Amino acid sequence: MKRTLKTLTAAGAVAAIVGAGVVYFGVINVGADDPHSEPVYALLSTARDRSIAVRSRDIEVPDLSDETLIRAGAGNYNSMCIGCHLAPGVAGTELSNSLYPAPPNLSKLGVDGNPAAAFWIIKHGIKSTGMPAWGKSMADPYIWGMVAFLKQLPTLNAEQYTALAVSSGGHQHGGGESKMHNHEGEHEGQKGAASAHHDAGAAEEVADAGDHHDERNSAHAHEVAAAPFQDESPEHAHSQGTEASHDASTTPVAQPQTHPHADGKEHTHAK
Ligand code: HEC
Repeated sequence: MKRTLKTLTAAGAVAAIVGAGVVYFGVINVGADDPHSEPVYALLSTARDRSIAVRSRDIEVPDLSDETLIRAGAGNYNSMCIGCHLAPGVAGTELSNSLYPAPPNLSKLGVDGNPAAAFWIIKHGIKSTGMPAWGKSMADPYIWGMVAFLKQLPTLNAEQYTALAVSSGGHQHGGGESKMHNHEGEHEGQKGAASAHHDAGAAEEVADAGDHHDERNSAHAHEVAAAPFQDESPEHAHSQGTEASHDASTTPVAQPQTHPHADGKEHTHAK
């Protein structure tokens, strides 16, 4: 008995030294262009799935067929998620192609059959994957908006996607919104120059829906966060003074030549 214990202790010590050596001598390649071996990948994805399943099982799912919720989710998705998770008509981006693990194409996957799990993932993010914890800047109702939108997403074509995103309030979730790219000062003097935006793709217009209007202070933003979606007509959302702004050249988006606007009119773009 004593001998077995000694052997086990010695084996444990050797394993610890080998483990420390593996770490110290940099044997593990953390490069995102070096995929995990199959057993490591299987271990990590099982740990991920179980972690999410356990944490999301008691989440109560609201009515996801609510039009206002879906519309609001479309604007936020188009501003914050499209670069990694794509959209109908957007095949791949530098970001989506270069991340490891690769972000799934949510225009095909939707909520993956489990809205509660999707909500948990969007709110808390997933460590070491590039999936951010959006709960740090968004209150729950806005996250549910994106879940509701994601549920519809696989059924939308590029035109329907664009129409829904254009008719939403753009990037708006009651405060904490920021630009994905730093365009500080770039749009100065453009207030009211709506026609300038018509050279750009849909994302620019959608993102700009909340841009260039009166800036709201954070006190108001918090007020909105406390009672989201209660009386939020597109006009209300439109005037929120959020800062979503994308350069059409860097933001991937379905850019049909002709696409419908919120007012139902169709414009044909030069490019
Ligand atoms: C910087 C890239 C990036 C951005 C931006 C991003 N995600 Fe993700 N997301 C990921 C990655 C990577 C994964 C996969 C993680 C994994 O494999 O465990 C993921 C996973 C997910 C999943 C789980 C999909 C599934 O069923 O496996 C959902 C849902 C999701 N993201 C929603 C969103 C939403 C909504 C937004 C915008 C608010 C967003 N993501 C923005 C990178 C991103």
